[in-house]
Amino acid sequence: MSKKFTITAALPYANGPLHLGHVAGVYLPADIFNRFAKMMGDDVLFVCGSDEHGAAITLRAKKEGISPQEIVDKYHEVIKNAFENFQIEFDIFHRTSAPIHHETASEWFSKLEANGKFTKQVSEQYFDEEHQQFLADRYITGECPKCHNPSAYGDQCEKCGSSLSPTELIHPKSTLSGATPILKETTHWYLPMDQHEDWLKDWIKDGKLDGVQQHDPKNWRNQVVGQCMSWIDGGLQPRAMTRDLDWGVKVPIEGGEGKVLYVWLDAPIGYVSATKQWCLDNNKNWEDYWTGDRELVHFIGKDNIVFHCVIFPILLKEYGGLVLPNNVPASEFLNLEGDKFSTSRNWAVWLHEYIQDHPEKVDELKYTLTAIAPESKDSEFTWKEFQARVNNELADILGNFVNRALVLTNKYYEGAIPERGELTAEDQALLDTIKSTKEKVENLMYRFKIREAQAEVMNLARAGNKYLADNEPWKLVKEDPKRVETIMNLAVEVTANLSVLLFPFLPKSANKIAGFLNIDNQEWAKVGQENLVSAGNKINKPEILFQKIDEDFVEAELAKLEASKEVELNYDPVKDEISFDDFVKMDIRIGEIVAAEKVKKANKLLQLQVDLGFETRTIVSGIAEHYKPEDIIGKKVTVLLNLAPRKIRGVESNGMILMSENPDGELSFVSPEKDMVNGAGVR
Ligand code: 2FM
Ligand code: ZN
Repeated sequence: MSKKFTITAALPYANGPLHLGHVAGVYLPADIFNRFAKMMGDDVLFVCGSDEHGAAITLRAKKEGISPQEIVDKYHEVIKNAFENFQIEFDIFHRTSAPIHHETASEWFSKLEANGKFTKQVSEQYFDEEHQQFLADRYITGECPKCHNPSAYGDQCEKCGSSLSPTELIHPKSTLSGATPILKETTHWYLPMDQHEDWLKDWIKDGKLDGVQQHDPKNWRNQVVGQCMSWIDGGLQPRAMTRDLDWGVKVPIEGGEGKVLYVWLDAPIGYVSATKQWCLDNNKNWEDYWTGDRELVHFIGKDNIVFHCVIFPILLKEYGGLVLPNNVPASEFLNLEGDKFSTSRNWAVWLHEYIQDHPEKVDELKYTLTAIAPESKDSEFTWKEFQARVNNELADILGNFVNRALVLTNKYYEGAIPERGELTAEDQALLDTIKSTKEKVENLMYRFKIREAQAEVMNLARAGNKYLADNEPWKLVKEDPKRVETIMNLAVEVTANLSVLLFPFLPKSANKIAGFLNIDNQEWAKVGQENLVSAGNKINKPEILFQKIDEDFVEAELAKLEASKEVELNYDPVKDEISFDDFVKMDIRIGEIVAAEKVKKANKLLQLQVDLGFETRTIVSGIAEHYKPEDIIGKKVTVLLNLAPRKIRGVESNGMILMSENPDGELSFVSPEKDMVNGAGVR
């Protein structure tokens, strides 16, 4: 029985381009699922659009010295084009700056407010006196109270993932002026999330709403349920749904002057307004896509779980009459070459740049990103692995199989598919593999196990490849041409089935294969049916599907990445004040390293002899991974002399060498700029 889906992919902020982490975690799996469900004959709407409000946008505008409108216009286009070129095909890619979105979000707010779903509260919030502005969300940074990351935002710590409120930050600082803000009273509308804990628990853990089964909780990813339950069990707090800002959807009721809706209230409503726009364009009713037996599926990254599994469901339920998400297949994070993707450090492979550099290698990237998709745990993209996946899997297995099947058919039968004779057990097993692959893929796809589904399709190509290698039609053709006809018929049959099965994952290559065979590859139901191709049908000359990636390609990409890297300046917070008396208690002097050796069985430690003029001391220092003993003899360094002696790995250390450390962990001695005498004081 066909199903009905409304599929959403997280609306990307229109404040910068997309990188491969976004693509692997959200847009590619969503696109694959959308293609698959449509091929199944399900009634599917796939919506996305750019998220054009919130501090992410206004801060970027300030950084680039242009208006927020110019920022969103620019990045909406960049993102939209990248999606199109990468063949991520939404039914609509909308924007939250569109009037229909403002109307929709306003209407939601007014309705919820009129029905008493918000509470109005006066509270003290941080205010920048210089800029005369309240500091919400990303307008304020400070130390995370949970993991002590010094640059956490007012709404979230990106290091530990905690959701925060600005007043929880230690040493808060305005991102506008850098100054410490003051507290000032302001009024806002709050969503009393604490009042929703009970039904949320039943719904997330058991899939039940008011006792009625809504979804099968076994199909939800463990980490999604786990994260939600830990928040709910920790107690939900009321959250402000409005902000003192001038960029966003205006608060449409009395008392809302100078305020806008919280971006996380308006953004998910963007899924609804995108639906409305698509329905207007296609003469449909938007309610049909948000009510009844529609399965609403949100593809997101793990940092968006709370908004899609807690806040938006509360809003949907309180709005009334609409479905709640049937599943939220949130992904974990993708890392890049041993480090996190970071926009601020420019440690990223940008989708639009990749497409510009390698327009002919779209499917190669799609395949690799799905093969390593961070579905259940964080994973990593490396150019070496990209090369291996393309060369060893796409080229050597899939490409090789399709090429052999079609080249030999052309060679032996002038491109006319030969008749199938009597089938051996091996032939039958191959045909059975087509059927079982179809079933496995369907099963996995409907449970959002997209990585495994792709691997199953690849296994069919593997089976085809093995079938040809085992049967060696190129040897058999002379002695048993009849048997070879059957072998080649089956090889072409597998190829044809692959062109259907591959379409959700690698649309371009799947269509190429369908083109070689002159067949239609859009109907999933045809997989495993006898005779997707018929004997006598003509096929075309194939071309190579996947070119191999050489070492130069990998090296060039790695060099590009290194060259664009910028050091992230994560400054430590300023320590608590001390008195001058505290400072002068430290006896700091210039010394000269006169001997150095490694401390046995300790990778990080060097044992140094430091000449202080009046005496030579033994000091153990944790610098062995940064300096070789022979390179530092004669170095003038700064030493804290009166630190209590300490035994380190059996060696007594009498002082400490002062070091300076870069954010990337690089160390440097603090050396005098002139040749000072050994023992000279530092104050
Ligand atoms: O994290 C983000 O990039 C957000 N712009 C996602 C929004 S998803 C939805 F709610 F619109
Ligand atoms: Zn933190």
